[in-house]
Amino acid sequence: MDLEKNSPCKVNLLLNILGRRADGFHELETVMQPVNFCDELSFERAGNGIQLSCSDKSLPVNSKNLVFRAAQQFLAAAEISGGVKIHLEKKIPLAAGLGGGSGNAATALLALNELFSWPLAPEKLHEIATALGSDIPFFLQNKPALATGRGEKIQPLENFPALRGKAFLLIHPGFGISTPWAYQNLARFPKALNGQKGRAEKLISLLQTADLKTASGELYNSLEAPALEKFPVLQLFQEFLRANGALAALMSGSGSTTFAICENISSAESLEEKFKSKFGQNCWTAVVPI
Ligand code: C5P
Repeated sequence: MDLEKNSPCKVNLLLNILGRRADGFHELETVMQPVNFCDELSFERAGNGIQLSCSDKSLPVNSKNLVFRAAQQFLAAAEISGGVKIHLEKKIPLAAGLGGGSGNAATALLALNELFSWPLAPEKLHEIATALGSDIPFFLQNKPALATGRGEKIQPLENFPALRGKAFLLIHPGFGISTPWAYQNLARFPKALNGQKGRAEKLISLLQTADLKTASGELYNSLEAPALEKFPVLQLFQEFLRANGALAALMSGSGSTTFAICENISSAESLEEKFKSKFGQNCWTAVVPI
């Protein structure tokens, strides 16, 4: 029996870093928005151990892969001696700030729990997810959320009225940004490193009660400080997108993806065309309804 699951990605509408913690992670508040652009995973009970395959040959298929580690942790916690075969069809760009790998790990935990008839409680899945990576608990649920702590404390939210009917234009510049690099280099930007708490609450309130034009002034990402300094083209992308009709434009997560929010699908598609004729064909782009 094969179990097939879509594994969506996310953007951070706000990523406000509050300071560096004693354990080396950063305390933050972030508003995370699911994006219905997906990798595909399939699962099958088979033999012993974990057999992982992946369409993208640049990704490891051993314990360096988050899906493999999620499956290992799941089988151990559920005390299952049988094995699983997993295939990952990769569509989401890598090192993109879209949480592709984190989403894959969460999807694997949920799917394996289903495949083996729910041996683990949601709290246990959350505990495994947190140990695997800060962004993974968000993907155990599929709603917008306020995430705090190092990103693992999730408060689910209803869909934001300000985003209803809108569309994302995602743009990956063709190079990735490593998350540890972005956090390390944030140290050179004391203001971005030590943000004021409360910006998330303000943005959430505006997304619930005001229009996007009003709320868009509150979209913010602390990690743009190191990323846009090293890659000024990302700044140019945002300026171009705003000047050509985007209601908002920001870098997602630790980069390198820029997202624009557009009035609807057709305006996102025409912005995509304009963007491609200006910046060439090397960028990966996708238009996704919200
Ligand atoms: O938790 P995750 O494995 O996704 O984090 C990757 C890296 O990003 C960490 O090793 C750390 O350098 C940095 N990070 C951080 N503070 C966070 C989340 C991630 O410093 N809240």
